[in-house]
Amino acid sequence: MAQLIVAIDVPDAARAESLVDELYELDVIVKIGLEALYGYAERILSYCEARDVRTFIDAKLHDIPRTVAAAVSQLVRPNVHILNVHALGGLEMMRAAVDASAERAAALGSTAPHVFAVTVLTSIAAEDLNELGLQGGPAENAIRLAALARDAGCSGVVCSAREVRDLKAFFGEDFLTLTPGIRPTGEAHGDQKRVTTPAQAVEAGADYLVVGRPIVEAADPRGAARAILDEMAVRA
Ligand code: C5P
Repeated sequence: MAQLIVAIDVPDAARAESLVDELYELDVIVKIGLEALYGYAERILSYCEARDVRTFIDAKLHDIPRTVAAAVSQLVRPNVHILNVHALGGLEMMRAAVDASAERAAALGSTAPHVFAVTVLTSIAAEDLNELGLQGGPAENAIRLAALARDAGCSGVVCSAREVRDLKAFFGEDFLTLTPGIRPTGEAHGDQKRVTTPAQAVEAGADYLVVGRPIVEAADPRGAARAILDEMAVRA
């Protein structure tokens, strides 16, 4: 059964906290992204921890292995369900992140957060990849990077829902997929290029769906989240 992650990408902590209050009875996972991490990390992370709200820390770490392992150790808390790194940081860096997550969680006596690797950002299209000098399309690159992530011991990858079927076929059902770039029919795409609807993502077999603006910018965020959960349940 796929789970919904809400990206609370807002500029101030008070707004982020009120979104957590509005959403937490729906048992969604709250995604803390770069805006929150650089702006008000400690406040929102403690707020979620105090309410036992599961979080996904979308830190997208990409540095030398030792630095990434040290950052992961700082991020692990009992309610952190997922944290992530960029697969382009390489095998050794991803392995260091997975080990640090397990070691810090063991020291805290909690469950280790899943470490996911970002393959190709959902804002990147085929032309953008070629511009970067990466050969092949988004799907080929996602599979190549996912193989490295699996070898490093990551729980799964962040990818477009369009790539989930191929990834599951290559790496099996237990290798998890987390998909941003989700837009209910009729919603603006914004900067996202490789989008799908919630129903299409669930049908493809995605394990976690990340939705930000369609919920956070709605007049009624809880209603918008509930509608997406309903659409996910119908297709599950
Ligand atoms: O508002 P929207 O639904 O586009 O939000 C998607 C969220 O997922 C953003 O917080 C973005 O940073 C994040 N994300 C993404 N693509 C990735 C990884 C994370 O859009 N590959």
